[in-house]
Formats: sequence, C-alpha cells, structure tokens
Amino acid sequence: MTLNEYCYHILLSSTLGEKLTPPPCDIIDIPNLNLEVPIVPNREIKLAFSDQKSKIPRLEHFNQKTNRALAIHHFANHELMAMELFAWAILSFQEIGFEFRNDLFKTLKDEQRHLGMYVKRMNEMGVEFGDKPLNYIFWKFTPAMKTFETFTAIMSLSLEGANLDFATLYGKVFELHGDTESSKLMNIIYKEEIAHVKRGLKVVHHNKIDRESDWDYYSKKIQHPFTPRRAKGYFYFPHTREKVGFSQEFILNLGEYRDEFSNRKKEVIPEELKSWGIYSG
Ligand SMILES: [Fe+2]
Ligand SMILES: [Fe+2]
Repeated sequence: MTLNEYCYHILLSSTLGEKLTPPPCDIIDIPNLNLEVPIVPNREIKLAFSDQKSKIPRLEHFNQKTNRALAIHHFANHELMAMELFAWAILSFQEIGFEFRNDLFKTLKDEQRHLGMYVKRMNEMGVEFGDKPLNYIFWKFTPAMKTFETFTAIMSLSLEGANLDFATLYGKVFELHGDTESSKLMNIIYKEEIAHVKRGLKVVHHNKIDRESDWDYYSKKIQHPFTPRRAKGYFYFPHTREKVGFSQEFILNLGEYRDEFSNRKKEVIPEELKSWGIYSG
C-alpha cells in the first residue's frame, strides 16, 4: 500500500472503525502530482459535520463525570479532524520531499491513536463518540491552508499549539476532581503534541529567510479572520512553548496577543488553578 492510498482510506472510509485502522508497516511513499484531493471527508451519519453549536462543558461543572466525558468527546472531535487533515495534507502536498511527508505521516498516526484513546475513555465513562454533534471547525480552514507553509502555520503552530494549553489545563482539572485516568491520558497527549508542534517549527526554520523572526514568519502566513488568538487556549501556559523551542519573542507576543474573539464569557477558574498559567480570555 502507498502512503497516498492510505490517506485516501482515512478520508474516504466512513466508519470510525475503518478510520482507526492503523496503516500497514510496509507502507511506501510514491508521490504523485496528479491526484484529486477530497475537499471534505466521508463520514457515516453519526459522525457527520454539524452546524449545531456544541460547547465544551464549563470548568465549574467538571465535578460531574458526564461533563468530563463530554469534554473528552470534544477533544476526540479535534483529533478526528486533525487525523483527517494530516491525510488531506499528505495528499495535497506531494512536492515537499520524503522527510516532511514522513513527518506529516508520523503526526497522522499519533492523532489516530489519540482519537482511539479518547473514544475508549469516553466509552468507559458512558458516552459514545457522535452522541453530541461534531463541529468541523478545522475543516473550515482548508481554503487558508493551500500551501504546506500555511497548513503548518494554521494546523501545527496554531491549533496544535493551542492544544498544549488545553491538554495541560484539562489534565489538571481532571486531576482536581480525582479523575486520574483522564488526567493521565491528557498527559500522554500533551507530550506527543509537543513533538507535533516541534515538527511545525522545523518547517518554519527550514523556510524562513535568515534574519526573519519566527513570529514575523508566522504572522505573515496567517490571514484575518484567522489570528494568533487561535494559537493559544483561554488559559496560556508559556512553559509548554518553551518545551517546543519557540523563541522568547514568540512566546511573549503570543501571550500578549488579543483580538475581537478574546472576550468570551469568563470561566470560573478553580482557586487551585489560578497560579498555573495566564488567563488570556
Ligand atoms: Fe492529537
Ligand atoms: Fe497533534
């Protein structure tokens, strides 16, 4: 099987079971510039894109198991979209060389595993994947991800970057409510997401012009209405970006960044949590 064939399998198969089937070990990469890339993934009804609003439960309601399970449902949706979008990227960017294609593939395999782990955990907690509507927010960004560089800026530096904050925050909140299993899961995912964002930074360092700062490069690759606000959670943990290897300038600029989306209704932050990071609204 070729890598392209496997990516078609991810995008065109409709059930969760098929999408979660890992690739064969002897997969080979044969780039082909004449492929037609699906613009949306195939999904069975239960997993279909939905325009219905489905928000992550508020932190003050995490004492209830169902709410913690629904938060995991929310994260699982992000993993499903990420897995599909890495398949979409591998199909879309045939010309980037074997090393970068393999980096995309490594991330795809992790996202697939993350999705499987989240689904298993929510099932243990009494929730099925697809019980709640699945938004398709990441898929809405594909028109802005026409090149490998813009894909990297949006997917890896922004959305996966923000996931470092979410994984850290929710890992702590699960722990606070005695849900050690879910907390451990967030920790595994956090560590692997660090590697994903690092792969994004590798693309930046490969492409930017000598003296350009990482922040300037990044800012040029994204376009309004997509802003750096998407690259962090409502709670920002700068040390997670240090682990990735971002410059201090990048970390500070991201921390200070505000836009018109920055005024969501404030979470009630548990006392214990207030010193953990920077609340950025
Ligand atoms: Fe992931
Ligand atoms: Fe990721």
